[in-house]
Amino acid sequence: MYLFEVGCVSHEWGVMIERATKHETVMLAEAVELLSIGPGDRVIDATVGGAGHSLAIGQRLGAGGMLIGFDLDAGAIGRARKRLASLSVHLQLVQANFAEMRTVLRSAGIESVDGIIFDLGVSSDLLEEPDRGFSFSHDGPLDMRFKSDAPLTAAQLVNSSSVDRLAQIFRMYGQEPHSRHYARVIFAASRLQPIETTFQLRDLIYRHTPASWRAKLKIDPCTRIFQALRIAVNDELESLGRVLPEALSLLRPGGRMVVISFHSLEDGLVKHFFKEESRGCICPVSMPVCRCGHQAQLRLITKRPVFPSQAEIARNPRARSARMRVAERLPVQGSAEQRGVRHD
Ligand SMILES: C[S@@+](CC[C@H](N)C(=O)[O-])C[C@H]1O[C@@H](n2cnc3c(N)ncnc32)[C@H](O)[C@@H]1O
Repeated sequence: MYLFEVGCVSHEWGVMIERATKHETVMLAEAVELLSIGPGDRVIDATVGGAGHSLAIGQRLGAGGMLIGFDLDAGAIGRARKRLASLSVHLQLVQANFAEMRTVLRSAGIESVDGIIFDLGVSSDLLEEPDRGFSFSHDGPLDMRFKSDAPLTAAQLVNSSSVDRLAQIFRMYGQEPHSRHYARVIFAASRLQPIETTFQLRDLIYRHTPASWRAKLKIDPCTRIFQALRIAVNDELESLGRVLPEALSLLRPGGRMVVISFHSLEDGLVKHFFKEESRGCICPVSMPVCRCGHQAQLRLITKRPVFPSQAEIARNPRARSARMRVAERLPVQGSAEQRGVRHD
C-alpha cells in the first residue's frame, strides 16, 4: 500500500539534505507550454529531480490544482519539498518508482489526471554527489542506485557478471562498439580484486583504451560504460516500458503526456509507443471489415521530437542530447469493429 506520506523522507545516508538543487531544468518553457495545463488541473511530475518542472507546473495549477511528484531518490524528494513549499497547489510527493504510478494514485482514490511529464534519466544533483557513484569525474563508491536501498549496486553488478552479461549490458544500454573488449578487461580485473569505486573503473577503462580509439572518440571512453551500468542497475528501460501504458490509462481525454529523454533507447521506446497508440485499425488491408478492434488512443502533438535551442545548449551543455515528444489522449470511442469500420 502506497501512502503519499512516504514522500516526507528527506534524508539519505543518515544526513539531512539541506542544499539547494544543482540541476538545471531542460526545455522548461517548451515542456510546460506543451503540457497545456491550467488552473485547477491535476498533474503528475513523474521525475521530480530538482523540481524545476514541478515549480513551473505548480505555479500554473494554483490553489485549486493538484501536483503529484514521483522520484526514487529520497534527496530529490526532500529538496523538492523545500523548493515547492511556497506553492499554493495541493502537493503530494512520493518516493517511488514512476512505474507504480497507477497503484499509488488508486490507493489515494485518484482515477485520472490532466497531464503527465517525464524528464528521464539522472539529475545533476545525483551526478555531482560522489557518494552516489554516478559520475566518473568524482571518486566514490561504484553505486549508481537512484534509490539508495535498492538491492543491486553497480559494483555488485560489475563484480558478479560474466563476460557475456557485461558485454550485453555495454552493447545494449551503452551502444558501446567495443563492448566485448571492455567486458573482458573488467571481468579479468574484478577476479583479481573487486572493483568498488568509480575511479577504479575509470582508470581501468582508460588503461585499456588504445590511443588510436581515443583519437577517434568524440566522448570520454567512460561515458557509454557508465551510462550502460546506470541503466542496468536501475532497470530504466523496463520501468519506462511499464509506465507508458499506465500513464496513458491515467490520462483523461484531452490530457497530455510530455516525455523528455536523453538517449536513443529511451526515445525509441517512447516513439514506438506513441506511434502504435496513435494508430487505428491494424488489420491487413485485404480484410474487408475491421476485426482487430485496435483504436487510436493518442494524437501526436509533436510529429518529430523537439530539441533544445542552441541558446539553451550553450547555457546548459547537458541539454544537448535531450529530445521531447508529446501526445494527447483521444476521447474514448467504440471499437472499429463495433463502429463497422470498412477498408473500402
Ligand atoms: C533529469 S532528473 C529530473 C529533473 C527535473 N525535471 C527538474 O526540473 O529538476 C530525473 C529524475 O528522475 C528520477 N528517476 C529516474 N528514474 C525514475 C523512476 N523510474 N521513478 C521515479 N523517479 C525516477 C531520478 O532520480 C532523477 O531525480
